[in-house]
Amino acid sequence: MALTRNQVVVITGAAGGIGRSCVYAMRDYKLVVTDYSQEIVDKLVVELRGEGIDALGFAADITNRESVEELKNLTLRQGNFKAVIHTAGVSGATKNLEQIFNINLRATDIVIDTFHDISRKDSVIVLIASMMGHAIPPNPAYDEALRKPNRKDAFSIVEPFVEGNSDTMYNFTKRGVLLLCEDNVMRFGNMGARIVTISPGVVFSPMVKQAWHDHPETMEAQRRMTPAGRYGVPEDIAEVAKFLVCDCSEFITGTDIKVDGGLFSQIMKANAKQKQSIKQDSKPSADDSKNKKSK
Ligand SMILES: NC(=O)c1ccc[n+]([C@@H]2O[C@H](COP(=O)([O-])OP(=O)(O)OC[C@H]3O[C@@H](n4cnc5c(N)ncnc54)[C@H](O)[C@@H]3O)[C@@H](O)[C@H]2O)c1
Repeated sequence: MALTRNQVVVITGAAGGIGRSCVYAMRDYKLVVTDYSQEIVDKLVVELRGEGIDALGFAADITNRESVEELKNLTLRQGNFKAVIHTAGVSGATKNLEQIFNINLRATDIVIDTFHDISRKDSVIVLIASMMGHAIPPNPAYDEALRKPNRKDAFSIVEPFVEGNSDTMYNFTKRGVLLLCEDNVMRFGNMGARIVTISPGVVFSPMVKQAWHDHPETMEAQRRMTPAGRYGVPEDIAEVAKFLVCDCSEFITGTDIKVDGGLFSQIMKANAKQKQSIKQDSKPSADDSKNKKSK
C-alpha cells in the first residue's frame, strides 16, 4: 500500500474544472471532496467510484465557518491531515461584488484558519489565486482590508476601488489570496507545515467557458498573446498542485507559482506599451507649440 494512503487530502470546489482535475491527480491519497451542494457532491462521488477512486464527499458552502469546521472534523476522523487544495471560487461573471469577496477571499481566510488547527509537520495548504491578482498594485488603502477580509469593514473598504466592476473585484480578491499566503507563512512554518498559492492564467474550465461566452474577442486575443500558444487545461494546474503537496517541494512555502503559459508578462508589456503611447499622444508636439506661439 502506498504511504500516501493514510494521508488525507481535502479538495474544495472538487466538482469544478480545476478541482476535479486535482481529485484525479491526487488519487493516491485518501480523499475528502467538497463542493457547494449535496447533489453535485453525490454525483461527483459516483463518477469517481466509476473510475476506481474512493473519495468521501461532503457538501458545504465554503463561506460558512461552521460548515468548514465540520469539514475539518470529518477530515480528522479519516487519518493524518496532509493537505487542502482550495479551488472553490467564482469569477467576475458572478455580478454580486460582495458574493465574490465572500467566496474568493473571506472563505479562503476561513479555510486557512480552520485547517491551521489540524496542520502538522509536512501538511500543506495550496490556494488557487489567479495571475490577475498580480495586476492589482500594492496600496495601503486597501491591502490591510485584503489581509483581514473577515473584519466587518473589509468589504466596504475595498468596494470603492473596484468602481462597480465585478471583474476588478475578482482581481482584488485574488490579490487578497496572495497576501493571505504571505501573512500566514510563519504560522505554518512554526509547525513544519507550508502554505503556497498557484496563480493560473486562462484555464479552460466551466468558469472560463462562461467568460468565453461573455467576451469571445478578449479571450481569443489572450490566447494569441500566450507564449505557450494555447489555453491552460485543468491538468496544468493539478500537476503543479500535486508537486506542491509532495514532500519533494518541501522548500517551497509562502510564495506564488504562476501557471499561465507566460501570458501575464505579455499582458503587462502590452499595458505598459499602451500607457506609453497615450503619454506620447498627449505630449504637445513641436508643431503644436509653434501654433500656440503664433496665436
Ligand atoms: N479557470 C481559469 O481560467 C482560472 C484562472 C485563474 C484562477 N482560477 C481560479 O481557480 C479556481 C477554480 O476555478 P475553476 O476554473 O475550476 O472554476 P469552476 O467554476 O469550474 O469551479 C469552481 C467550483 O467552486 C465551487 N464553489 C463556488 N462557490 C462555492 C461555495 N460558496 N462553496 C463551495 N463551493 C463553491 C463551484 O460549485 C465549482 O464547482 C477558482 O478559485 C478560480 O478563481 C481559475
